Amino acid sequence: MTRHLLRDDDLSPAEQAAILDRAERMKADRFAERPLDGPQTVAVIFDKSSTRTRVSFAVGIADLGGVPLVISTASSQLGGKETASDTARVLERQVAAIAWRTYAQSGLEEMAAGTTVPVVNALSDDFHPCQLLADLLTIREHKGSLQGLTVAFVGDGGDNMVHSYLLACATAGIHLRVAHPVAYGPRRAIVDDAIRIAATTGGSITLLSDPAEAMADADVVVTDTWVSMGREDQKAARLEAFAGYQVTRELMAKAKGDAIFLHCLPADRGFEVEAEVIDGPQSVIWDEAENRLHAQKALLAWLLEQD
Ligand code: CP
Ligand code: NVA
Repeated sequence: MTRHLLRDDDLSPAEQAAILDRAERMKADRFAERPLDGPQTVAVIFDKSSTRTRVSFAVGIADLGGVPLVISTASSQLGGKETASDTARVLERQVAAIAWRTYAQSGLEEMAAGTTVPVVNALSDDFHPCQLLADLLTIREHKGSLQGLTVAFVGDGGDNMVHSYLLACATAGIHLRVAHPVAYGPRRAIVDDAIRIAATTGGSITLLSDPAEAMADADVVVTDTWVSMGREDQKAARLEAFAGYQVTRELMAKAKGDAIFLHCLPADRGFEVEAEVIDGPQSVIWDEAENRLHAQKALLAWLLEQD
């Protein structure tokens, strides 16, 4: 049966680990696997802006022997004149897989339900599972393993990154703490899903309002923009609500001495993170950005084998 990656818990713990292992091997020997030889084409569709996702999918598909077809929704029929399922029916006759960055998660679900090729969520309003594969790969590289680590996310608890952190960390057996203003928390149904998964993997989920409490002895510190794409009209209220949730040097000092700092980028220095932290010695953001390439290549290779 065709498999998709629409949200992080579409992968079981064993599948997530296998994809990360494969990404590590692919990083060590970048051109060894060519599952898209032919060359086959992969469509990568963007309703929202992107630098890392666009580049890493395009380069990764080429590395795998294939041809990337990058489509901007603004210049296609999708979104305005044509449904996601009709688009998928057209694409599946010609491409090996579809990656789509969009707004509503329901669009991805509609596309996946209507097609025979794998659909990958390249970021939606709710989740960013490709980023999480890259983040977990980066954490593993720096910490050796994932099981039992403590990860602290400080900032916008209601954004796609937090929802993905909840599900992906639970899957990996990580202890995740999220510190967020009360009015900006994660969706309850996703928290409940994460708690259910964590109960089977030895991980845990803790929601807090005090950033210092979240940071205590953390192995990994993460944040994300306070103003995600599509929420620009809420910027003023958000900047006010998130004051006190900036990852500063002082806050970072509460984590373990060898803690690493991650940010999916793009970053707003001076808002969610102090420049001295994101540009400092504990920051691993450039490894993290590079790992999008290796993680997505492993994901695509794995998905193509599941048919
Ligand atoms: N982190 C990330 O997805 O970056 P882009 O928006 O540049 O793709
Ligand atoms: N939460 C951010 C992530 C950007 C990669 C956004 O959705 O804009």
